[in-house]
Amino acid sequence: MGAHVALVARRRDRIEALAEQLEADGGRALVIEADVTDRAQAEDAVRRTVDELGRLDVLVNNAGVMLLGPVEDAPVEEWDRMVQVNVLGLLYCAKAALPHLLSAAESSERGVADLVNISSVAGRVARAGSGVYNATKHAVGAFSEALRQEVTQRHVRVGLVEPGAVATELSGHNRPEVQEGIKQRFADMERMEAEDIADAIGWMVTRPHRVAVNEILVRPTEQPG
Ligand SMILES: NC(=O)c1ccc[n+]([C@@H]2O[C@H](COP(=O)([O-])OP(=O)(O)OC[C@H]3O[C@@H](n4cnc5c(N)ncnc54)[C@H](OP(=O)(O)O)[C@@H]3O)[C@@H](O)[C@H]2O)c1
Repeated sequence: MGAHVALVARRRDRIEALAEQLEADGGRALVIEADVTDRAQAEDAVRRTVDELGRLDVLVNNAGVMLLGPVEDAPVEEWDRMVQVNVLGLLYCAKAALPHLLSAAESSERGVADLVNISSVAGRVARAGSGVYNATKHAVGAFSEALRQEVTQRHVRVGLVEPGAVATELSGHNRPEVQEGIKQRFADMERMEAEDIADAIGWMVTRPHRVAVNEILVRPTEQPG
């Protein structure tokens, strides 16, 4: 795609390593250490991106946590974390980015700008043991659709990506007994890789300006539900 990218996360070493890879491949990557649940840090991440890279054409709201288990036994702090990252962090970044995306859509050669929110199959299908994660991802879907209606005629495309199981760190933040259940559920299944989701996002944001891909639901071939 040839885009310059700003990488935002809390663990600087991880995004620095990724930036090195991107730059070794001839890209330009800006490292921004920030916690998106802190509104000032989310706003500052957007401001620094625009200051240092000159503009903002695409925002991918990817940060998320998935802490599963039955409601009855759940530590409520886990719910706080999910709501803070999956919902509030995403809202703070979207709000801060929106004026820049609107102006990029107006002034860029592409004639559009893109806001991509990463939801989940859990944003479409609720399951026992996943209630609050389901609630946060359904919130992402509802917000994305409402915002899409508000800005699509000004050429900001709001896209929702809903992955099934991807081999990442995500399930590793769960309590051991919950991790065991997740491991069993996906034991016989070839999960997707992060690159598969990156492909979907890359395709979404490179459509011609007349095409807005509003939603991509993408599961491992072997995942039935
Ligand atoms: N893996 C799956 O099976 C799956 C399926 C459906 C949807 N998803 C969604 O995909 C997205 C990415 O998840 P993943 O699977 O790649 O999980 P992951 O490996 O745990 O990565 C999560 C990413 O979010 C960042 N992050 C977390 N909290 C943050 C915060 N407060 N501020 C800034 N960055 C933060 C993490 O970096 P730091 O920890 O360094 O901040 C990390 O880069 C999430 O929204 C998740 O819900 C994943």
